[in-house]
Amino acid sequence: MRGDGLSASLPVHPVPDMFSPVSAPAESIRELSWLVFGISAGILIVVVGVLAYCVIRFRERPGDDREPPQIYGSNQIELAWTLVPALIVVVLFLATARTINELELRQPPPGALKTTIVGHQWWWEIRYPDLGIVTANELHLPVAGEGKDRVAYLTLESADVIHSFWVPQLAGKTDVVPNRVNGMWVAPREAGTYLGQCAEYCGTQHAHMLLRVIVHPQADFDAWVAAQKRPEVVDAAVADGRAVFQATACVNCHTLGGTGARGTFGPDLTHLMSRETIGAGAAENTPENLRAWIVDPDHLKPGVLMPAMKLDRADIDKLTAYLLTLQ
Ligand code: CUA
Repeated sequence: MRGDGLSASLPVHPVPDMFSPVSAPAESIRELSWLVFGISAGILIVVVGVLAYCVIRFRERPGDDREPPQIYGSNQIELAWTLVPALIVVVLFLATARTINELELRQPPPGALKTTIVGHQWWWEIRYPDLGIVTANELHLPVAGEGKDRVAYLTLESADVIHSFWVPQLAGKTDVVPNRVNGMWVAPREAGTYLGQCAEYCGTQHAHMLLRVIVHPQADFDAWVAAQKRPEVVDAAVADGRAVFQATACVNCHTLGGTGARGTFGPDLTHLMSRETIGAGAAENTPENLRAWIVDPDHLKPGVLMPAMKLDRADIDKLTAYLLTLQ
């Protein structure tokens, strides 16, 4: 369910497959993995081949009980089995060092779209400092242009424990560490939805710390930005629900533009209904699930840090009706 009606037609890639990269860092990683895989496969074939040859060629034959020739020391053989592996290690080291050097970027490149991603137990806070947008669990990016002019730079921070940001089709994993700022970049060249996942065990709901990256054509991305910047429009029909929200402890943990709620412990709800899931991928963002989430989040995501607010049925209906208007 999408308020902006944009990504409905974009392809969704349901398998986060590192072998189908659509962005520069993931492509370099795939190339390197094939190189390492190729060299390892070569070593396997040679070793198993020599072993099989020796087992067959020099096996014990009936009636032949002579002792095989005993060879003590051979400089040539020892040189060969020292130098060849050493050379292979050097090749792998240089190839890896080159790839790491290519991918490491300490500072955002000029012209990059800057985003800050904060890992929380168990959801992702996503900020666009230059655009003044805050959202959760969905990173929206424009498709990369020629060269690297539209690279997106991701600053990674943690609010609590170690998480790891991983969208296999876009880039390798980067750990999200408390009291440390890490950075990575992506340059997605195909529009679509790419799935990701926290890749470092971070507590009960590590498995439901899902993430989606929605890559739009530039014009759609601009429209998304405009929609996210739109201030809250209060519909008089849901004023009761808004009052319930403001009178409940919701405001301590959530920010909601226009209501005075400025909590930062939970996701910003200003444009809640523009997102595809709730609870960082725990459930689809449908009216039924949203209501069930407010009644008892633990039911949809056991261990979640949001408590059940114990509202009566009438208040839950009003509150749900209000949240459903937050496009
Ligand atoms: Cu966050 Cu696992």
